Amino acid sequence: MPANEVGWVPPEELLEHARRAALAAHAPYSRFRVGAAVVAGGEIVLGCNVENASYGLSMCAERVAAFKAQSEGRGPLSQVAVSCIDADPKAGPEGRMPCGACRQVLAELAGPDTPVWVDGVGEFSVSQLLPSAFRLPRP
Ligand code: THU
Repeated sequence: MPANEVGWVPPEELLEHARRAALAAHAPYSRFRVGAAVVAGGEIVLGCNVENASYGLSMCAERVAAFKAQSEGRGPLSQVAVSCIDADPKAGPEGRMPCGACRQVLAELAGPDTPVWVDGVGEFSVSQLLPSAFRLPRP
């Protein structure tokens, strides 16, 4: 899906894509649908959580979107939006934030200053979400 010509998608628009992406979630076990929309290489790439009867095989929405973008050769992620559309409206931010594994993947595939909009919570940079991310030196 093409982003607009300047390659910047307004946060509310990207969040709307993330909410729509969540509708494709396969979440029969948790009944907790999550959507992610990332901008990479001038394109919007969507992801949703995909669960499995072997629970540990389940995959988060953010990683689906990030891995899709990378595997399509789109380069670093420049914007990220996440929406937990089934979160209890009365719940605090902890029920809507990206999990630790997704933060580590974002630290690798996005920049430290890449904005991450969390629906119903606010804006964070990748480095705010995961200070001191694990990294290996690249030869
Ligand atoms: N989930 C995500 O998709 N992203 C996160 O960052 C946290 C959790 C999913 C995994 C599982 O399918 C469901 O939400 C409940 O944990």
